[in-house]
Amino acid sequence: MEGLNLHPAFSGIQIQYMNLKFPLALALITSMLLFSRCARKTDDPAAEIKTYEAVAAAFGSKINLNSLANYGNQALPAYLRKDNAGPNAINNGKATLGRILFYDKQLSLDNSISCASCHRQSFAFGDTAIASRGVSGGLTGRHSMRLVNARFAAEGKFFWDERAATLQMQTTMPIKDHAEMGYSGVNGRPGLDALLSKLGALPYYRELFQFVYGNTDVTEFRLQECLSQFILSIQSFDARYDAGRAQVANDNAAFPNFTAQENMGKNLFLTAPVFDGTGSRTGGGLGCNGCHNAPEFDIDPNSGNNGIIGVLNGSGIDVNNAHLR
Ligand code: HEC
Ligand code: HEC
Repeated sequence: MEGLNLHPAFSGIQIQYMNLKFPLALALITSMLLFSRCARKTDDPAAEIKTYEAVAAAFGSKINLNSLANYGNQALPAYLRKDNAGPNAINNGKATLGRILFYDKQLSLDNSISCASCHRQSFAFGDTAIASRGVSGGLTGRHSMRLVNARFAAEGKFFWDERAATLQMQTTMPIKDHAEMGYSGVNGRPGLDALLSKLGALPYYRELFQFVYGNTDVTEFRLQECLSQFILSIQSFDARYDAGRAQVANDNAAFPNFTAQENMGKNLFLTAPVFDGTGSRTGGGLGCNGCHNAPEFDIDPNSGNNGIIGVLNGSGIDVNNAHLR
């Protein structure tokens, strides 16, 4: 029973408590109850247990607003260097609401598509289809992107072509995309305002927005704030790379958990190439790290692009162009 060894002072099983001999267990339970009540009182008056009937009816025990999951303070590897949560530090209430929004098909015009339809957790929050399906059979112009470790990056722009200046701005663009979630305001379809009214009328969102913001207003800014906070909370540092990196002083050192071949691959990735006067590579590595910076492997803001700047089947430079096949 490691971890349960009592200090010798407590080994007498019975202790003297308020002039009575209490069995140790009873005394402990009593003091725990007293402590938790005091703790709640002194913490924050607003944090008293409340019931959220509509949230409970919609999500059962998956969402407990009285005991929020930990989104903002997850364990991080010591070797990380980049963290852009900054002023957007993750609030567990906002991230909870962001998670609910992310999985809610109500965010699409015909209630058939959620963010998670194209960003599937089992595929690093990406998709297996080359183009993903949105409302009414609409198809995306590019491949759905993985949404992992967005927080640990030097790059602040989003999408393959970096057309979203910030993560907050990005998050409502799929909702307003005609092919994706459909609130486009074109070709007879309603715009985002219709969605804001629709969500504002749903009882569980009324409780959730009241809980997070102190009133039931559903605004684009709030959707952006909550969705981006949830996305910033999606982190993954349990790959074999992380296990190896944690055991050595820097990325270049051979990882003890890698095979010789894997360490050679790592060297090729990390090491800059050497070119001769004519521009032919004569040695060194492949220089992937110049754009995909270890240990976060985020994309360097100055990496430009890798040639995939067009859209699928489009006339720009894209993966379907013959010269790239
Ligand atoms: C119909 C499929 C689909 C839906 C629904 C969808 N996305 Fe995406 N998502 C994509 C595609 C495709 C891209 C890449 C688009 C591009 O670059 O032009 C993308 C890109 C992104 C990115 C950029 C990631 C990066 O590293 O640059 C974020 C963030 C994102 N989506 C979040 C969301 C959120 C939040 C929602 C829900 C409000 C959502 N997506 C709904 C398909 C979808
Ligand atoms: C000149 C810059 C540059 C170099 C060098 C480079 N890449 Fe990339 N790579 C990119 C860009 C830009 C993307 C698009 C990803 C994005 O915008 O987040 C990308 C995407 C990728 C992706 C897809 C990532 C995903 O999340 O879907 C993989 C895998 C990849 N690169 C591997 C490599 C490898 C392996 C090398 C070395 C042989 C390499 N890259 C060298 C710029 C570069």
